[in-house]
Amino acid sequence: MIAPSVLSADFSRLGEEVMAIDRAGCDWIHVDVMDGHFVPNISFGPLIVKAIRPLTQKTLDVHLMIEPADPYLADFANAGADVISIHIEACKHLHLSLQTIRGLGKKAGVVLNPATPVSMLENVMDHVDLILIMSVNPGWGGQKFIPESLEKLRQAKKLIGNRNIVLEIDGGVTAENAAGIAAAGASVLVAGSSVYKGNDPATYAPRIKAIRDAALSAL
Ligand code: DX5
Ligand code: ZN
Repeated sequence: MIAPSVLSADFSRLGEEVMAIDRAGCDWIHVDVMDGHFVPNISFGPLIVKAIRPLTQKTLDVHLMIEPADPYLADFANAGADVISIHIEACKHLHLSLQTIRGLGKKAGVVLNPATPVSMLENVMDHVDLILIMSVNPGWGGQKFIPESLEKLRQAKKLIGNRNIVLEIDGGVTAENAAGIAAAGASVLVAGSSVYKGNDPATYAPRIKAIRDAALSAL
C-alpha cells in the first residue's frame, strides 16, 4: 500500500491536495505531526487532522513526532485519525501509551528512529497494530533513504512472525527503491516528495502507480 505524506502537499491548498491523492489512487494518507521539540521542525496539530477528515474515506495514518504524546492522543483520536503512531524515543511508558491508543478505538503504531534497534519492541508486540521503521531522521521530507533500514525491516518482519501487525517504512521512498523495500518486508510505503514534488495533481496517479508497481514486482 502507498501512503502519500501530506507534509509535502501545498499547504495553501491542503484540502484539494488531500482529495487529489485520494482520487489518484493512494491507499492510506500519512499525516506528519511535528512539535519543534522532539524533532526540530513544526508542522501542524489535531485541528488540521479534523479539517481533512471529511475530505476522504481513506485511512488517516497519523505519525506523531511529538514529546510528550500522551496529552494529545485523545485529541488526535477525536479529530478522526485511524492509526496513531508514537515514537518509542518519545515515550517514557510505551506499553501504557499503546494501550491508551487502543482504548480510544484506534490502531496503535510504534515508530523507530534510524538509531533505535528493533529489539526494543520485543516486550510490546502484543500491544502493537503497526510498526513504522524510519528510513530517514524525522523532521523533514525529501531526505535520502538510509540503506541500513532494509535490514531493520527484515528484523521487524521476523519479530512480527504470524502476528497481525502492519510493517511500514517512512522516508526517502521512491519508485527506484520500492522493490527492495517490499522484498525486505514492508507492506505500507510512505511517500512524501516522490508523490507530491512539484504539487501538480496530474502527476500523482502515475507516481503512486510507479511506486506500487515497483513494490509489487518484488513479491
Ligand atoms: C519525515 C516524515 C516523513 C516525510 C517523508 O519526518 O515522517 O513522513 O514526510 O517524506 P519523503 O518521502 O519526502 O522522505
Ligand atoms: Zn512520517
